[in-house]
Amino acid sequence: MNETIRSIMQRSSTRAYTGEAVPPEKITVLKAAALAAPTAINKQENRFVFVTDKDLLAKVNEKTYEVMVAESDNEGIALLEQRKAEDIFYNSPLVIFIYSQDSYYAAMDAGIAVQNLALAAHALGLGSCINGRCRRAFNREFEGNLCSTLGFAEDEEFRIAIGIGHIDKDKEPHTFDYSHIREIK
Ligand SMILES: Cc1cc2nc3c(=O)[nH]c(=O)nc-3n(C[C@H](O)[C@H](O)[C@H](O)COP(=O)(O)O)c2cc1C
Repeated sequence: MNETIRSIMQRSSTRAYTGEAVPPEKITVLKAAALAAPTAINKQENRFVFVTDKDLLAKVNEKTYEVMVAESDNEGIALLEQRKAEDIFYNSPLVIFIYSQDSYYAAMDAGIAVQNLALAAHALGLGSCINGRCRRAFNREFEGNLCSTLGFAEDEEFRIAIGIGHIDKDKEPHTFDYSHIREIK
């Protein structure tokens, strides 16, 4: 099978990492993969923060939990418990946060970039898990949100994040439901 198709088919979310750091040469490739993503009208408004600072990731984790509790997100808290998650990033040594100014396609541009990162990580022999849960840490309605800590300007918003690292425990790719596809010929 073609390498690209194999990566698309075999990628799955990793929720257990060894903790080993992602080597700089792989981080360089991931940066290029992020910037290679297509954007509407080639506006390239995605911005990326590559974070390996454990203390900062712990802060994002803490703030996310704080907001989950404030919002009584019992389902989310129970899911993390059920997954035996040490933290919302499952101990991934690298988390990439994508943010941008508001625009009609901002979420879509970020979604495409995050999948580029997931596939690039897979191709580099690394695991990844997209993370939307941490958006709570950047909710401007909550005092002490971490927007400025991560360097977002007033008019920039969190879109999505992805944790990346060496796989400790792998998971099978999810099953496909072909009934979700219709053809009109
Ligand atoms: C927009 C988006 C947000 C997600 N947020 C989280 C998250 O916060 N935590 C998590 O463990 N997985 C998260 N995921 C991963 C999904 O749960 C996962 O992709 C799905 O269960 C299918 O499994 P697979 O990635 O192994 O195919 C997210 C995925 C997407 C696309």
